[in-house]
Order: sequence, then C-alpha cells, then structure tokens
Amino acid sequence: MSHDAWRDAPELRANPELAALVAQAVAVRERAWAPYSGFRVGAALVGASGRVYLGVNVENASYGVAVCAERTAVVSAVAQGERRFREIAIVTDAPEAAAPCGICRQTLAEFALAEIGQDLPVTLVSLSGAVTRLQLSALLPLAFTPRSFEVRPVGATGPQ
Ligand code: THU
Repeated sequence: MSHDAWRDAPELRANPELAALVAQAVAVRERAWAPYSGFRVGAALVGASGRVYLGVNVENASYGVAVCAERTAVVSAVAQGERRFREIAIVTDAPEAAAPCGICRQTLAEFALAEIGQDLPVTLVSLSGAVTRLQLSALLPLAFTPRSFEVRPVGATGPQ
C-alpha cells in the first residue's frame, strides 16, 4: 500500500485546505520520538490567527513520561500566545484513523470547549487512507472545562 494513500481519501480530495493541513501533520510525524511503542503520531493545530502549530509524540526510556502529539501541539500554541483554535488534524499509521487519548481530549477541551457554543473540528487520518471527521464535543461529551468553575481561571492573562 502506498504511503501516500491518505491523499486519495474523498474527504481530503474535496477539501484542499484540509489536505494541506493533513500534509503538515504527515510530515511532522516523521519527527516523532517513539522508539518504545513504534507508534508515531503527528498533529497539526490551526490557531484562530491561521497559524499552524505542529506536534509529535515524544517517548522516554521511563515510559510514563511519554507525551502525545496533540498535547505537544497545544503546548506549543499556548507558549506562542494562541489559545483559540479552528481545527486539528491528527495522523497515525493505524489501520483505522486513531482517536486521541483521554488526556489529549481534556487538554483540547480546556481551550476549545471553554465557551458556550465553542467546538473544535477534529480530523483523524491514517496513512492508509482512513479519515474520520468529527467535533471534539463528540469525542468528549459533558467535558469538564474552565466553565465548570463558573469563574475564569486565576492568572488567565495575556492573549485571549
Ligand atoms: N499517542 C499520541 O501521540 N496521541 C494519542 O492520542 C494516543 C497515543 C502516542 C503516545 C505514545 O507515544 C504512542 O502514541 C503509543 O501510545
């Protein structure tokens, strides 16, 4: 099977902008550090500004230290002053398009579901061509968010 089979997915053929985002996630996935699981993940997160933040999973000889691709992308965005997101694409070589782990869903929800009516389109892609598009709220219904406190988090200053 071609490594580029994902390019033929109808959802991506119909949406060149999304395909370009997925291409960035495919490319950055090559930089994942996953010598223990062998499972490399690439993520491309679009900020409200249009800027794209990339992430990969980074494993460790002390296995529990591993960080997922989705979280490295979010951490990078927040460090660069961006906290509102338009879209995320996540790429693996799993047979089916793999969904983000629970911790990553919660990390995304902190920013993507914090306001009423907010949501985040998530595109899950396997290199083999399986594509799933859904909203973060479908991956994490009834999310616990900053809104659950009914107050803004203390120290939430800087770019909003
Ligand atoms: N992984 C991610 O990067 N994202 C997920 O949502 C699920 C799991 C990584 C963590 C670990 O490096 C490898 O995949 C196997 O679990």
